[in-house]
Amino acid sequence: MKEPAGEVLDQLLRERHSCRAFLPKPVPREIQETILATAQRSASWCNSQAWQVVVASGAAVERFRAAMVEAASSGRRDSDFPFPAEYTGRYLERRRECGFQLYNAVGVERGDKAGYEQQTLENFRLFGAPHVAVLSSDPGLGVYGAVDVGAYVQAVLLAMQAHGIAAIPQAALASQSTLAKSLLGIAPERLMVCGISFGYEDTAHPANSYRTRRAKLADAVSWVDH
Ligand SMILES: Cc1cc2nc3c(=O)[nH]c(=O)nc-3n(C[C@H](O)[C@H](O)[C@H](O)COP(=O)(O)O)c2cc1C
Repeated sequence: MKEPAGEVLDQLLRERHSCRAFLPKPVPREIQETILATAQRSASWCNSQAWQVVVASGAAVERFRAAMVEAASSGRRDSDFPFPAEYTGRYLERRRECGFQLYNAVGVERGDKAGYEQQTLENFRLFGAPHVAVLSSDPGLGVYGAVDVGAYVQAVLLAMQAHGIAAIPQAALASQSTLAKSLLGIAPERLMVCGISFGYEDTAHPANSYRTRRAKLADAVSWVDH
């Protein structure tokens, strides 16, 4: 028997998924504020609260979308945190599995490189979302600042799920960090961790039709008693 709060949390975690097609309808500002006020309660090392968040909507998000698509199409890349050099072993398997789930859902055939690229570009189009939040950390806080932002990301995603708002965290947007920061007036020395595109889910879109798996508990956790 689970405690009621445990049931609710479990349900939010089970039902949340990354949304890759949004309706154009904006999320009222009061709902955004309620969600972000909840996420402000996130834990952080020394309560440093490393996260700073800029939410772009309306004309600002359209400028952001257009500039990011153009930059990504040019093939240039610059990120404040190094991206993984390669995925191997179980990480490669998981990456492939969720990638093929997406490509199968949207009808991109295996080996269709142009199709893969087009789908990757959707990241920079923000999957059609009416809002994007850009999250940054302070360079003085080092890697733990990014850890704190990660904890905050999870809180935002769960709070959004609780309010019926769909979202997707996007490290892809951090591959254009200098541009993203300058477009949104974020100080250049801050470290961009990721973006979160959000809005109302287009439930009829095939990109939202599948769910990813997780490893069994025993594959992730062990207990040491003696
Ligand atoms: C920090 C972070 C960065 C991510 N970056 C991207 C991204 O750039 N593009 C994308 O399509 N999905 C991105 N995702 C979403 C993951 O692919 C997704 O969470 C994972 O496949 C599990 O699927 P689910 O979120 O639907 O449960 C990111 C997730 C996290 C937590």
